[in-house]
Amino acid sequence: MGIALVTGATSGIGEEFCWQLAAAHHDLVLVARREEKLRKLAEDLRQIAGVTAEVIVADLGVAGDVERVAARLSDEQSPVGLLVNNAGFALGCSFIDNAIEAEENALDVMVRAPMVLSYAALKAMRARGRGAIINVSSVASETGAGTYSAHKAWIRAFSEGLSEELRGSGVTVTAVCPGPVHTNFFEAAGVDMSAAPQWLWATPEQVVSEALDAMRRGQVLVTPTPVYKVAMAAMRVAPRWVTRRVMRSIPHM
Ligand SMILES: NC(=O)c1ccc[n+]([C@@H]2O[C@H](COP(=O)([O-])OP(=O)(O)OC[C@H]3O[C@@H](n4cnc5c(N)ncnc54)[C@H](OP(=O)(O)O)[C@@H]3O)[C@@H](O)[C@H]2O)c1
Repeated sequence: MGIALVTGATSGIGEEFCWQLAAAHHDLVLVARREEKLRKLAEDLRQIAGVTAEVIVADLGVAGDVERVAARLSDEQSPVGLLVNNAGFALGCSFIDNAIEAEENALDVMVRAPMVLSYAALKAMRARGRGAIINVSSVASETGAGTYSAHKAWIRAFSEGLSEELRGSGVTVTAVCPGPVHTNFFEAAGVDMSAAPQWLWATPEQVVSEALDAMRRGQVLVTPTPVYKVAMAAMRVAPRWVTRRVMRSIPHM
């Protein structure tokens, strides 16, 4: 797979992708907004895992920044073999009580950016006849947790559609749908998850390990951890009104 480009590399699931990919001897391109964290991670990856890590400081809510990352994915002098569209965040607010600018930014980061980056990556990968994309969706893609759910449903449907378009091309697309994961995600959005029992949570290590295994098998959808495999399966067969009713007891994402 060669070089892997990971968005949202400064924290949580994205940072864990970097470490597990480095352990598998992939060089990396690290993308996020916090330059100091990116440079520190690049240096740690070099010293501890012995891989090279380029840094692209980019706000994926800004079209020009997304174009710079897309240009890196199109660079055939140093081909990227794996794109991980991971950057994202919870809004922590109901749609009508949120600022429309915040909603537009979430759409740009979690929908527009993965679409533009996938386009650039896939053009190059299909021409090469190999490559892979991992898109980080969520169990929320099966629920009605506001626009966050809608964005995660979009990326999952996008991944499934692409996987069919690309059948036989040597390029695969995998969507990973985790439940709650111990990262900075909820705290950053001010979402109180203190009432959620421990058995509901996964670690970034579990999520990334299952995602990479699925990608290596060419699997299209993966839901990490047994409890959420069961929950996703149940939500797919339950009447939609049951899922909506359960969602009332869950905080805004
Ligand atoms: N944690 C969960 O329970 C959970 C469950 C299901 C799915 N997910 C998904 O997993 C992905 C990673 O989340 P996480 O849990 O690892 O959260 P996290 O620890 O808060 O990390 C989020 C990452 O996204 C980056 N990011 C946010 N806004 C960005 C922007 N405008 N431009 C570029 N990068 C941006 C952040 O980097 P900078 O701040 O440095 O830019 C950070 O590296 C997200 O897509 C999230 O929706 C999380």
